Amino acid sequence: MRRLIFASNNKHKAEEIKSILNHVFQIVTLKEAGIDIDIPEPHETLEENASEKSRVIFEMTQSDCFSEDSGLEVYALGGAPGVKSARYAGEQSNDTNNIAKLLREMNGIENRQACFKTVISLIIDGNEFLFEGRCEGHITKEINGNNGFGYDPVFLPDGLEKTFAQMSMQEKISLSHRKKAVEKMAQFLNEMASPTKP
Ligand code: IMP
Repeated sequence: MRRLIFASNNKHKAEEIKSILNHVFQIVTLKEAGIDIDIPEPHETLEENASEKSRVIFEMTQSDCFSEDSGLEVYALGGAPGVKSARYAGEQSNDTNNIAKLLREMNGIENRQACFKTVISLIIDGNEFLFEGRCEGHITKEINGNNGFGYDPVFLPDGLEKTFAQMSMQEKISLSHRKKAVEKMAQFLNEMASPTKP
């Protein structure tokens, strides 16, 4: 089974990704690999942050690895909070304060369309490959649900009447931006393992 280090300390993301890739790839988190590092995300795009995280881990381990960076893009806010999703409320950032700031910023705004976006940077044999996944929806006016993390309680995916935080993990995963990016990566890895003959 191919072993891939997932360059993250976020246990929610690791849980979601393991459940998508279960039994096909062995996903090892930083903690499980015995790596104690908090990699900064200093860049202006999800792509650059994802690349930096996978490069740092590849340089440390010389092992196949991947990282992901995700964010919520609200169209009426010019794509904010975007790459700054985790730190939206500044020094006081946590899920509650980030959501509170988002709802304040959106007060009186009618267009509440938004999307979650994930970018994965995969390094295989020293070469980097990028994969993107998106989930379109809109921002609710109130908080609903207790599951998940981040902006889940205010994100209503298109075509549904429940926020991500009102869904079971499996239900959320089936729709999520992260799943779409992870599946693209998995397909790429499968094709690499068994290339179709011309
Ligand atoms: P990062 O990818 O670790 O930088 O985190 C991005 C931030 O985006 C998280 O801290 C959350 O606030 C938000 N985020 C990313 N993915 C999700 C999701 O699936 N649900 C809710 N919030 C998310």
